[in-house]
Amino acid sequence: MSGAAPRPTPRPAIRGLDDLLERRALAPIVDDYRRVEDMIVGNIHFGLDIVPRVVRYLLEAGGKRIRPIVHCLAAHMVDYAGEDHLLVASVGEMVHSATLFHDDVIDEGMTRRGIPTANRVWGNQTPVLVGDFLFARAFSIMMNHRHYEIARRLAPTVEDLVRGELIQLAHRGKPVVPLEAYREIIRCKTASLFSWCALSAGLLAGLPEERVEDLSRFGHHFGLAFQISDDVLDYSGDGDSTGKGTFSDLAEGKTTLPLILAVRRDPEIGRELKEWLRGDGAPRPAPDFLASRVLESGAIEESIQIAGEHAERAEAALLPFPEGPFREALFDLCRFTVSRTH
Ligand code: FPP
Ligand code: MG
Repeated sequence: MSGAAPRPTPRPAIRGLDDLLERRALAPIVDDYRRVEDMIVGNIHFGLDIVPRVVRYLLEAGGKRIRPIVHCLAAHMVDYAGEDHLLVASVGEMVHSATLFHDDVIDEGMTRRGIPTANRVWGNQTPVLVGDFLFARAFSIMMNHRHYEIARRLAPTVEDLVRGELIQLAHRGKPVVPLEAYREIIRCKTASLFSWCALSAGLLAGLPEERVEDLSRFGHHFGLAFQISDDVLDYSGDGDSTGKGTFSDLAEGKTTLPLILAVRRDPEIGRELKEWLRGDGAPRPAPDFLASRVLESGAIEESIQIAGEHAERAEAALLPFPEGPFREALFDLCRFTVSRTH
């Protein structure tokens, strides 16, 4: 491991941005979007060069910044008049970045956003500590700006992130994962932070609790749709566009919705999976052989349908809010998340 970061391959500043712009989702907040990026970089000074170097390595590699987008669109939709939504949006992305640093260490991830993971560049210790710093700084920012309720709601969100990872870890390498356990994993590891990104916009604007809960429900269902789509892309996507490779969940021993549904549809896949996991020296099907059985089973289509149902429930949660470009953009984002290719 060397201490110097290789330069990321030049790529469009934000992967997926063009796609989102085409779908109008980003047009109303394009200025916010760029300012959030600067704010993250401006908020991570720590008197140690290694911190901004590692954080920028991840940010400059790309990423869609969906969490800040959700927060900024929601803040405008509810007519928040201040500027602190940029701060909260940047905190959402900082927390997300922290989880990615930790997740890649836990998963021994090799590629993130198309480039080697931070743990491959700096070893495990540095990205774990930079992740810890980002979590701590996220809370400092909220407290220093007296957003106590937003910070209070962030704490159980972070607990959920950890809970999701621990449940996922407990099921790793198991051929059968109950659907309930999968749902809890994705609620915790993905939907919880989207929920916070959305509800915090309502808290900023001083909305009544009922509306804050509508936003929370929006983020929850949006996050479930987003994670299921991510799990589908691991089977059906093009590894170059996702920046993570394909069939990596299976290779990491992670059973996600497509596999759970495929085993239900075709029990032979379950037997092959057990055989492969047993690793008793007998000839075993390679993960991509299993993956192609999953593709043939119809489980991908069923997973996309379930993601679509969550996207619809997310849209329904926004109906009490005023019509306009921001709500429309959030609707677009719901549709984008189910149809995306990266
Ligand atoms: C990605 O899942 C992982 C997450 C979205 C959450 C990870 C959360 C943690 C590691 C908890 C960290 C929190 C603290 C406070 C230490 P994935 O591996 O399925 O996605 P990937 O394919 O993008 O790697
Ligand atoms: Mg991972």
